[in-house]
Amino acid sequence: MHDRVSGRPSAHAALAFYDDQHPPAGDFLADVLDGFSRSPKQLTPVYFYDAAGSAIFDEITELPEYYVTRTELAILDRIGPELSGLAGPGAVVIEPGSGSSVKIRKLLDALAEPAAYVGLDISGEHLEAACQEIAADYPKLQVGAICADFTQGLDLSHLPLESGRRIIFFPGSTIGNFEPAAARDLLDGFRRAMRPGDAVLIGADRVKDPATLVAAYDDAQGVTARFNLNLVERINRELGGTIEADELSHRAVWNPEFNRIEMHLHADADQRFEVAGREFELREGESIHTENSHKFTPNSFTSLAESVGFDVLHSWSDAADLFSLHWLEPTSKA
Ligand code: AVI
Repeated sequence: MHDRVSGRPSAHAALAFYDDQHPPAGDFLADVLDGFSRSPKQLTPVYFYDAAGSAIFDEITELPEYYVTRTELAILDRIGPELSGLAGPGAVVIEPGSGSSVKIRKLLDALAEPAAYVGLDISGEHLEAACQEIAADYPKLQVGAICADFTQGLDLSHLPLESGRRIIFFPGSTIGNFEPAAARDLLDGFRRAMRPGDAVLIGADRVKDPATLVAAYDDAQGVTARFNLNLVERINRELGGTIEADELSHRAVWNPEFNRIEMHLHADADQRFEVAGREFELREGESIHTENSHKFTPNSFTSLAESVGFDVLHSWSDAADLFSLHWLEPTSKA
């Protein structure tokens, strides 16, 4: 088989196409040095997901306190027939960040004869493995892969895709890990790649009582604490860091002003450390802000979607309103 995008013999045998858009690799060192030079110190959550961090994140999704994953899966199970009706036969499912193999399978299984699946991820290795597995398990599906940074917009124009309705699947409330302006840019990038009638199916976590939220990000077994601390251990491993991780404690805090859970690493004692030869200091009580996870009300999510030219045509929640899935289509007025 030939790689239809580049025309060269494909190393990606089971895939209908592999489109390498050569996304620039994030500059871990520059971002860490910049974040540690700020006050308060901060790190970017994209760097949580090395092999160790991704494995810990998988553990998080199984925690009793982390209702997010199981609630979204249960909603997907329940609304499968409705999604099938909305998508119609021959849908082309596009998954930016293609990671959650259980969720995409639920969606593909629910739809009536989907025509194609396209995974899109910045990590080529991870992407290829995920797409090959889908191709092996869904032999009737055209499966393609795009190696790209989905935060920079989606370029689908030149791909040999089936002409069915395109559905961009963005589950997990990953939208909540973006700052509001970046969340708008992300959705705007999705919309620009869509044609009339295409849709986004997106998960968004709900504002709820702070005790439930804090427990979900500060679980009794300390798995989320390990996830948070892995980020500084990664800096030590990969960037010659000398941070004393034992003197940092995980904190999860509800910030009602911005409707977000914040994760921090709190310094239990003064420490001086180096990263790639640059010296930094942490004072006791100071903290490194590592992640925001924004939560939405029905109104705040609708405002976000409408601000970039989407209509929220359907929303589904669980009985306790912990989590929602939304079906967005480009507004006819846009
Ligand atoms: C990936 N993302 C949706 C997770 C969240 O809930 O914001 C990341 C996470 N951080 C700590 N626990 C889970």
